[in-house]
Amino acid sequence: MKSTTTILFLVTFLLVSCTHKPGLVPVVVPTPTGCDTVNATYAKDIRPIFSSNCYSCHGTGVTTGGGLDLEDTAQLKNYLKNGFRGDGIYGSKLYHCMLHSPLAQQMPPTYIVDSCSLKKVHYWLSQGGPIN
Ligand code: HEC
Repeated sequence: MKSTTTILFLVTFLLVSCTHKPGLVPVVVPTPTGCDTVNATYAKDIRPIFSSNCYSCHGTGVTTGGGLDLEDTAQLKNYLKNGFRGDGIYGSKLYHCMLHSPLAQQMPPTYIVDSCSLKKVHYWLSQGGPIN
């Protein structure tokens, strides 16, 4: 009887600890068919995504995004360096903002960009965010 109680307690504890992990929760985004992520480059794919979804607030000379200038590649690299904690793609704050992950600021604030764009940014970040 005593061991049954112990086992029940342990199972409950494990279940609770699995569902209440603190911090950012990975959101799995399926790759849409026909979405080419591995050939994504900054110039061809990533810049246009930022340009159409972010520069209105995070462009050069724009202050509505709190002064974070994603158009300036030096600032972008610096932000990624500091916001990419070295623990893989799920450590990237910028990506979590774009995913609208719990605990991250939702970027853009009013909608989530299409999943192919998300996948391209994901791949690009996993390569270290090169300006290529
Ligand atoms: C409508 C305006 C707007 C748009 C569009 C927008 N942002 Fe933001 N963003 C903001 C504001 C406002 C903040 C918060 C600034 C602050 O709190 O100081 C912010 C903050 C951020 C931060 C910093 C979060 C942090 O906690 O360090 C990142 C990263 C970011 N935005 C990325 C993006 C990306 C990527 C896009 C496009 C996919 C985007 N934003 C589009 C307004 C915007």
